Amino acid sequence: MVKMAIMGHGTVGSGVYEVFEMNADKIARVLGEPVEIKYVLDLRDFSALPYGHKFITDFSVIENDPEVTVVAEVMGGVGAAYEFTRRCLLAGKSVCTSNKELVATRGEELLQIAAEKGVNYLFEASVGGGIPIIRPLLQCLAANEFNEICGILNGTTNYILTQMIHNGVSFEDALHQAQLNGYAEKDPTADIEGHDACRKICILADLAFGDKFDPEQVACEGISHITLEDVANADKLGCVIKLLGRTVRCDDGTAYAYVAPHLIHKESPLAAVEDVFNAIMVDGNATGEVMFYGKGAGKLATASAVAADMMDCVEHATQRRRIFWGDGSKNLLRPLDTLQSAWYVRFKGTRQAIEDALPVESLAEPTPGVLVVRTRRLSTAEMQAKIARLNEGGKVCAAMRML
Ligand code: HSE
Repeated sequence: MVKMAIMGHGTVGSGVYEVFEMNADKIARVLGEPVEIKYVLDLRDFSALPYGHKFITDFSVIENDPEVTVVAEVMGGVGAAYEFTRRCLLAGKSVCTSNKELVATRGEELLQIAAEKGVNYLFEASVGGGIPIIRPLLQCLAANEFNEICGILNGTTNYILTQMIHNGVSFEDALHQAQLNGYAEKDPTADIEGHDACRKICILADLAFGDKFDPEQVACEGISHITLEDVANADKLGCVIKLLGRTVRCDDGTAYAYVAPHLIHKESPLAAVEDVFNAIMVDGNATGEVMFYGKGAGKLATASAVAADMMDCVEHATQRRRIFWGDGSKNLLRPLDTLQSAWYVRFKGTRQAIEDALPVESLAEPTPGVLVVRTRRLSTAEMQAKIARLNEGGKVCAAMRML
């Protein structure tokens, strides 16, 4: 019998318990022995649950129980979650998590402790919920240099955009529904302002390029300013608006990394990714483009990845997985100034002003005085300078990259 513990009984934590219960026979068959969830750590009162007797409020019970060898950290945040993870690893227990904030900000340190103690710190669920992406990057695609990783990495914002695009639902109503479905973060600001996707693209860049990409340094723009007007303009251009996390390797080994809404062509596979689904396109220099698709958020989808990591820890109890990245001192993050893109611009002002300022590829005037422009490719720095110039005699209401 393998004994495990779960720290946190929110959406994902309760899902992890459910997966181990629902699939107990299958899991025992794979591991060759059954799993017992010995403790669930949470300060709230869950005594009415059938497994209410397993709840504890004192972390040291887990820390000091030598029977417990694998622990799920599904508390979220970087306070107690960091402290408890560190202490579990130091106590020689493997830890598995869905906590992208903790992995993105302190991952290198926790992986280092895990290495020193000969245990595992696994985080498949931290990116893409139930989609396998961390293992494929580390194993199946390990022989590649990565040219680019680009994806829809946040289920809540993809759900909101899908509702806006197809049903004309307001931003607020769609967000409320995403919260009810258990997709959103406790504070949904992290979803709608892109911070959640930013942490995820940083983790993918850390793994792809071997050094820390700090979420604090990575340019991050969310979707709270996207209007139904932009959605309709995108449609006329044959595009949909999607929030993308993207990292692109440059010839000198540095890489761009950022999160921003983009207009993407309806023919692109990413355009067909709707609702809570996520998709991640990985361009390896040997494989070419490989795409990963599935539910990026939600209770059981995310729990499935945490539970599988916990099983992996049992199977690799004596042979730890080799996962690491540096502390960021290589400064691999390249400023976006030189990143070239075509742009969508919505501008209130004169046609003359916009034609003078931008390399116009196409121009429409859906309502009098409102101009919608698709530009030829220009760099972020050029675009920023042109926006400043256009704002002197008019107003740039929206500017988004097009892929
Ligand atoms: N709030 C996140 C999302 C949960 O909507 O994608 C999964 O990380």
